[in-house]
Amino acid sequence: MTPANPTRRDEAANLPLELAIILPTLNERDNLAPLVERIESALTGVGWEVLVVDDNSSDGTAEEARRLAKNDNRVRVIQRIGRRGLSSAAIEGFCATAAPYCAVMDADHQHDPNLLIPMLLSVKTGEAEVAVASRFAEGASTQEWDRPDRERLSGAANALARKLTGVELSDPMSGYFLLPTRTAMRLVPGLSGIGFKILLDLLATSDTPLKVKDFPMQFGARRSGESKLDRAIALDFLAGLYDKSFGRVIPTRFALFGTVGALGVLVHMAILYALLVFVGASFTWGQTAATFGAMTFNFWLNNFLTYRDRRLKTAGKVFWGWASFIAACSIGAFANVAVATMLHERGLYEMLAALVGIAIGSVWNYALSSRFVWGR
Ligand code: GDD
Ligand code: MN
Repeated sequence: MTPANPTRRDEAANLPLELAIILPTLNERDNLAPLVERIESALTGVGWEVLVVDDNSSDGTAEEARRLAKNDNRVRVIQRIGRRGLSSAAIEGFCATAAPYCAVMDADHQHDPNLLIPMLLSVKTGEAEVAVASRFAEGASTQEWDRPDRERLSGAANALARKLTGVELSDPMSGYFLLPTRTAMRLVPGLSGIGFKILLDLLATSDTPLKVKDFPMQFGARRSGESKLDRAIALDFLAGLYDKSFGRVIPTRFALFGTVGALGVLVHMAILYALLVFVGASFTWGQTAATFGAMTFNFWLNNFLTYRDRRLKTAGKVFWGWASFIAACSIGAFANVAVATMLHERGLYEMLAALVGIAIGSVWNYALSSRFVWGR
């Protein structure tokens, strides 16, 4: 009998498809081939496929994945263009596989594929509904930055995670877990898909607390390339909490953007006051300096907070980001004044017209910034 597909590499490929390993990637070209090899040797006796979900990496990760897929069609590629995010990449993977079980795993070798089989077994036998590889369970170990991370994670954040999910978890931010695809698909409609807290999101979305089993892991060092996530874990928790409660009314990112804007008003007033009172500047100069000061502050805080998942980091990018942010704000200000004036002329009370102007200006600022300052 000839194999169903001649590009399948070995007889193991004739096993029925059981496990999809979803690898979200952003610039992981050199990590892919060795990782697929490690997965292959870890999964003897199991029918598997690897789903590389790449967000149009600039280093040619998708091309490398296609090259691997040509030699071994257990490797599949989803290249997304114009979309970003670890969570949404994982969701893309859930939706794209026929395998009854799914694992999500980092592509940079920090997660050990040898845990896949024990994790799969625990879920298959019903011992757990979700298997989570934990950096902080008894017997786990981590390298690099993870120690201070652990300090921060214990305490308030962990309590919050417990409240959110109803589940006791030693590592709610783990990026390495396995569950039945059916379970994932049931939860997908309720997920926010923002940021990188996909596991937390899955657990918090389930009506009944899911049965979780922790697997202590040896969290290795990244093999090549650099980390794309920052360590503002508390922030991600708070954003997650907000998202679950009000995210459908006012999107999290817009709420952050608006809060930053409101803080900018305070900064503006402080600068203006200081220049007028202490420096003796004219109002025009004071107002101009305060406007630029506030915009710079807003740019910085938005880059730090609102768009932390797309943060501009190099000096050149920060400079151009700052310049285009100021341009975006000017357009927003124009929309603000135009709309407010028009409403006022039609007889709307001044304060109300001003508020509507501010609201419309903010939406413009937000839309332009998302697209042109922190877009790709
Ligand atoms: N498709 C896609 N899109 N993949 C992404 C994106 C994105 O926007 N951002 C990151 N990735 C991929 C990376 O290429 C890597 O394979 C994986 O997601 C994890 O990214 P890293 O940049 O290596 O994350 P980390 O090592 O800093 O963070 C780890 O610890 C976090 C908890 O502190 C990961 O395990 C996270 O999942 C975990 O939440
Ligand atoms: Mn990593």
